[in-house]
Amino acid sequence: MILPIVRYGQAVLRQIATPINKDHPNIKELIANMYETMYAAHGIGLAAPQVDVSIAVFVVDVDGFKEDYPEAAGFKRTFINPELLEQSGEEWYFSEGCLSVPEVHEDVKRKSVIKVRYFDEDFVQHTDILTGISARVFQHEYDHLQGKVFVERLSPLRRSFLKRKLTDIAVGRTMPDYKMKTLQRKR
Ligand code: NI
Repeated sequence: MILPIVRYGQAVLRQIATPINKDHPNIKELIANMYETMYAAHGIGLAAPQVDVSIAVFVVDVDGFKEDYPEAAGFKRTFINPELLEQSGEEWYFSEGCLSVPEVHEDVKRKSVIKVRYFDEDFVQHTDILTGISARVFQHEYDHLQGKVFVERLSPLRRSFLKRKLTDIAVGRTMPDYKMKTLQRKR
């Protein structure tokens, strides 16, 4: 089932997501829905808070980048209760976007090599080294679980240039070609 995606500006995107245990109700269904939602919107990563569920889960599929980034080949993974253990390597810029921030693409600087620990969808724990685009998307999604959206990593000047666009997104004026969550009326 395709789920509506939460817009930039909503409180759930600023919350720290809660870790889950393996008996978390309907988790397989949620993960399947997250993949379906991500693919329908042509995304490469999606975190649970973006579908209004504040738990520490995100899904990634960067296989589409394999021609330019060999590490992306076959990289489709579910991350549950992820931890970012170490960051190393060079910092590099890449133009990032986010399904919660439609029509905004900005260069973000991140580390190129990370060591991570997480559970997969069968609740098997893994410790991995991720590089390049895989490390990039992990860090973007991991930020969502810390209540952070990528535009918060931009310089104050760059953010001031984007202010109008971000307001348009937050108030619902920006309409992408995928389903976003209807805003609740403020009282
Ligand atoms: Ni995002």
